[in-house]
Amino acid sequence: MEQVINYQINNKNRFLSELLDLLRIPSISADSAYSNDIIHCASEISNNFKSSGLENVCVYETKGNPVVYGDKLINNDLPTVLVYGHYDVQPADPLDLWESSPFDPVVKKTVLHPDGAIFARGSADDKGQFFMHVKALESLIKSDSLPCNVKVIIEGEEEVGSVHLENFLNTHKEQLSCDVILISDTHIFSNEVPTVTTGLRGLSYVEVMVEGPNRDLHSGLYGGAVPNPIIVLSKMISSLIDDDGKIQIPGFYDKVENLSQSDRAEINKVPFDDLTFMNSIGLKGIEGEKGYNSLERTSIRPCLDVNGIWGGYTGEGAKTVIPSKAHAKISMRLVPHQDPEEITNLFTKYFKSIAPESVKVSVIPHHGGNGYVLPSTDPGYIAAKKAMEKTFGKEVLPYRTGGSIPIVSLFEEVLGAKSVLMGFGLDSDAIHSPNEHYGLFNFYKGIETIPYFYKYYVEIKK
Ligand code: BES
Ligand code: MN
Ligand code: MN
Repeated sequence: MEQVINYQINNKNRFLSELLDLLRIPSISADSAYSNDIIHCASEISNNFKSSGLENVCVYETKGNPVVYGDKLINNDLPTVLVYGHYDVQPADPLDLWESSPFDPVVKKTVLHPDGAIFARGSADDKGQFFMHVKALESLIKSDSLPCNVKVIIEGEEEVGSVHLENFLNTHKEQLSCDVILISDTHIFSNEVPTVTTGLRGLSYVEVMVEGPNRDLHSGLYGGAVPNPIIVLSKMISSLIDDDGKIQIPGFYDKVENLSQSDRAEINKVPFDDLTFMNSIGLKGIEGEKGYNSLERTSIRPCLDVNGIWGGYTGEGAKTVIPSKAHAKISMRLVPHQDPEEITNLFTKYFKSIAPESVKVSVIPHHGGNGYVLPSTDPGYIAAKKAMEKTFGKEVLPYRTGGSIPIVSLFEEVLGAKSVLMGFGLDSDAIHSPNEHYGLFNFYKGIETIPYFYKYYVEIKK
């Protein structure tokens, strides 16, 4: 390990400058205006794979964005680790809220990051995190210390639901066969309380539309005598959750797992504090499902949120109008065993049933995905915990998080392997928001920790 560590110390600055180069490419998957940047980004990553010592490097075309693959296969008798990450990023808007340009990365010091943090879209989600793996592998390969086989896939559609990756997995099943999947696309509880993520939530996402009159109406001539689609939609939405924070869709909770007291206690080991939580997001109060604390509400319990709502006149000044239509985007975060398709169907049926006869309601389903749990007895979990304990010098706790990475459950289905979520971000990294950043401490700590994962994983599997 000494050689590996020395290699990392000697190449520290180059690692960072290579990452900054990647962050300059606006690889936004949601907007087709950036499709050339997507292709450029995939090609730069494949070049980096090659110079890092990975072999069989290839940019695979899919029906969507390309997948970058590379591997280093040293011995059939040794375990194989598949590393997954994504090079696509979320759109950067609203641009005016960025303190520096989203695709012109800068390193700045903050209270939480006295060593500095890289400010750029994708710095934490996920370029800065998957790149730790490429550089950790480089340091292992170049110092002749790689203890097992590795395969790496970096995809370009995670932020839009990984729609074409399932087909890629099926058509490259043999090539991707592995014992475990290693992913850094999540966060730790804090730099003082390192954690390995042991659960993700699933997702069901729908768009709804309420149609009232066949055209926009003068709100003086018609107001008072006709249904207003925005008011109808608002009432329908607010009736979806009761005062105890329970989602009212019949059957919604049927498959939700009831955790044992000891599992619940394990989840609550991280020092979560409501006041710190509230202060970090500028809130004076919090709410949620009765009977659960905030940590549980955002991890082991499902929830329903409105992501956007629109309709009618929103321009300057006042326009007196009753709109013909009202729209909303609604997401439901699910827990393991809840089936996203089934939940979407239950939602659709119920949402239509609560509409007054005066309006027409339509529901369009968007992408979704299953939740995921990694038992703390899994060899991959144990290896990750040991690796982080080695480099952080602190006890590592399990951490269930509320975000989703839908491909993780498909990995299990198609490749038959568990994913270990060893992310190094912080929840304060502002992923998907303006001023996304990734701590240099976290970036380098990841590069330092990953080689130990391989070392311990091989030892455990012996
Ligand atoms: N990396 C995130 C997910 C994440 C972040 C999980 C932090 C846990 C902790 C991922 O890129 C993401 O944004 N996922 C989307 C889902 C996807 C289908 C668009 C999400 O969770 O909203
Ligand atoms: Mn991500
Ligand atoms: Mn994301």
